[in-house]
Amino acid sequence: MNAPDNERGIWSSKLGFIMAGAGSAVGLGNIWRFPTIAGQNGGAAFVFVYLLSVILICLAVMIAELALGRHAQRNPVGVYKTLAPGTAWKYLGILGVLTGWGIASFYSVVAGWTLGYVFKTAAGAFINLGPDEIATVFSDFTTNPVLSIGCHAIFMGLTMLILYGGVKGGIERWSKILMPLLLVILVLLVVRSVTLPGAGKGLAFYLKPNWSALTGKSVVAAMGQALFSLSLGMGTMITYGSYLSRKDNLISSAGWVASLDTGIAILAGFAIMPAIFAFDLDPAAGAGLIFVVLPNMFNKIFLGNLFGTGFFVLLSVAAVTSLISIVEVPAAYFIDEWKMSRKKAVTIAGGGAFLAGIPAALSGNFLDWMNVIFGQYSLIIGSLGVAIFVGWQWGASKANAEIMQGNPKFSASTAYAFAIRFMAPVSITALLICLILFPDAF
Ligand code: PHE
Repeated sequence: MNAPDNERGIWSSKLGFIMAGAGSAVGLGNIWRFPTIAGQNGGAAFVFVYLLSVILICLAVMIAELALGRHAQRNPVGVYKTLAPGTAWKYLGILGVLTGWGIASFYSVVAGWTLGYVFKTAAGAFINLGPDEIATVFSDFTTNPVLSIGCHAIFMGLTMLILYGGVKGGIERWSKILMPLLLVILVLLVVRSVTLPGAGKGLAFYLKPNWSALTGKSVVAAMGQALFSLSLGMGTMITYGSYLSRKDNLISSAGWVASLDTGIAILAGFAIMPAIFAFDLDPAAGAGLIFVVLPNMFNKIFLGNLFGTGFFVLLSVAAVTSLISIVEVPAAYFIDEWKMSRKKAVTIAGGGAFLAGIPAALSGNFLDWMNVIFGQYSLIIGSLGVAIFVGWQWGASKANAEIMQGNPKFSASTAYAFAIRFMAPVSITALLICLILFPDAF
């Protein structure tokens, strides 16, 4: 039953985990999805509900995933097999592994576009183009099968190269380099954006809550976005938690990852909202916001090409540190359960996700559909499963005992038991029901 430890690995320090965990959490979800959804749902009012979802529901699930992973030192399937042997819980782990493939497949396609746009913007492909032509460039690019599959292949290839390096030498090493880089680029973009003439309107929109734009759907969108953004529900945090040392404090580790993720999502709004209002663009433009609306703006500002290139580098960096964490879930499963070498496991996990992504690279509708199935339903079902498993099957007291390792002074075990047994499962069930009722909420 023992995992081949030489193929598994462990973070070199708590900081190493925080960088890798934040690298996983901070992704396209923060820089692309968060500002878009906030724009559609009343700016600051949405941010407020989002914060409540993170603090009241998601943190408990994240701590549960980390505790499970560190306790069993295994991938999601292995965790359920070890802690509830002979039961159907292992299928929850299998769902996680399949979700890893499902999300990786379309995530890598969109990430491939961001990489393609780094080169397009750097080469000045949008200079002198009008809004319609810029929209055509995007649709030509994404419907060109060679470009779309090619960029997807390159992005997945880069991800696999990092994963071949292992937990410490690959994931942690690159997260420690790329996360500070991401923060520097983001801060530069925020400074550029808030100093644009006319940025004030965007700041007011983003900072002054418009409660009337906040509907039941917005609450659903906020919770769903929070689960996706914090990488919960498919076992990423179980897997990353399984590389944590028993000396590390799970509560503060989770707190750091959640704060960095939330802080960076909010900062991304500061980079995007003022720019949108300064140029009279539509904050609710939806998915095309990043690839169609923003290049128009970069055309109009001083050194726009440079800032535009920086923006797409930022997106690519955010995406690669997330994609490695998504592909690591099936990889860890193969290492632990099938006793494969890391090299073979990563090749199968990444290669499989590449093949599964080809239909999404060829059809935008298919991509949207994969996002609904895996990025929404699967993660919600997975998060609900984790909360029920930890709260009711494994037991909140065992989870609390795991939390005490590395944090002997932990004094909120009653509150944690309440959060994981009642608050999280009830609200995630409500979320699932609402999503079925309003399927287009996010
Ligand atoms: N959290 C990542 C993002 O915001 C996406 C992700 C989802 C990563 C699920 C891992 C697991 O882009």
